[in-house]
Amino acid sequence: MKILVTGGAGFIGSWIIRHLLQQDSSCEVINLDLLTYAGNLDNLRDVETNPRYRFVHGDIRDANLVSSLMQEVNMCIHAAAETHVDRSITNPLAFIETNVLGTQVLLEAAQKCSLQKFVLVSTDEVYGSLPLDSEEKFTEQSPLKPNSPYAASKASADLLTYSYFKTYGLPVCITRCGNNYGPYQYPEKLIPFFILKLMHGESVPVYGDGLNVRDWIHVADHAAAVTDVLFHGTPGEVYNIGANGQRHNLDVIKTLLKLMEQPESKMAFVQDRPGHDRRYALETRKIQNTLNWKPQHDFESGLAETVAWYQASLPWIQNIQARQQQEHVKPGAEWLIKKS
Ligand code: NAD
Ligand code: TYD
Repeated sequence: MKILVTGGAGFIGSWIIRHLLQQDSSCEVINLDLLTYAGNLDNLRDVETNPRYRFVHGDIRDANLVSSLMQEVNMCIHAAAETHVDRSITNPLAFIETNVLGTQVLLEAAQKCSLQKFVLVSTDEVYGSLPLDSEEKFTEQSPLKPNSPYAASKASADLLTYSYFKTYGLPVCITRCGNNYGPYQYPEKLIPFFILKLMHGESVPVYGDGLNVRDWIHVADHAAAVTDVLFHGTPGEVYNIGANGQRHNLDVIKTLLKLMEQPESKMAFVQDRPGHDRRYALETRKIQNTLNWKPQHDFESGLAETVAWYQASLPWIQNIQARQQQEHVKPGAEWLIKKS
């Protein structure tokens, strides 16, 4: 079995590749990644010499390259994307180009060579936002009501993927997962961004009142779920992936402060993110009941292990910081810097 993973040098893609190679000794993986600011081959040092793994530096929008790779493989997990909501506020075009057009290029190539399975790694953000004062959760039947340019681009990819099932019979599955945390996450998302700031003794910018709720899951659990969907998911089906990990941002941040022995005065309340989704929560009975998948990590111990990993991974952090300087990577929340 040969599998194309797109975006495999990113956070979640690298965990999916590691999981695929470990789980099945007959499985070969091709990793197609453009190595944008978020792509990092240091995430895969432990597998780079594995004879069943091959890295291809390239763009999912390159139809010729994608077509030739697709002919080599039996299945595809599509995880490549522009992924940060803050960046989508200042540069939405990049999100449309990669997340919408790139997905269409992959689907077209997959359809032409009759791929056995195509899994789109989508997100709970396609469902939009839930009110704080309700118990409601998103199910796979909830309407797609994305609010940020990132979420809208992922919802477009999600709908396009389903259209290739209905129109061309391409055996697709779509996964919609909550917020991931764990080792190797690029330090622009809340948890790694704040860990690094606290490691440097800096304060941490809390958007708005900090009461927004995210549904957190350890990345290893997400990678295992995506792999289960690849091998056992029913074509045409959507699977929510979550670990019942709903928490206010303030809860997460206070837990981080405790773990890192820092005072609550390190929290700096700043202007809210435009269009900031209030609450995400996922109903995940479908994947648990039909594929027998269950999360293995609880949030508190997972977060403690994640903090310890960043504290022990200075070379990984320093390489990213050196690249950020060399490549003049702008901060994610440029909208905040511009307006403050
Ligand atoms: P990431 O930003 O860490 O990695 C994205 C990867 O895609 C990078 O390696 C980058 O180089 C690559 N890439 C970007 N544009 C490309 C292109 N044009 N061609 C080839 N490669 C390209 O992202 P992540 O957090 O690992 O997210 C992976 C996937 O999971 C995304 O599709 C995202 O929407 C989805 N997702 C993420 C989360 C989360 O909490 N991070 C939650 C649910 C779903
Ligand atoms: P983020 O990690 O950007 O993920 P997403 O927006 O895709 O859920 O943000 C998680 C939550 O943390 C979100 O409610 C925004 C908030 N946040 C801050 O308060 N400060 C920050 O500096 C960042 C990056 C996020």
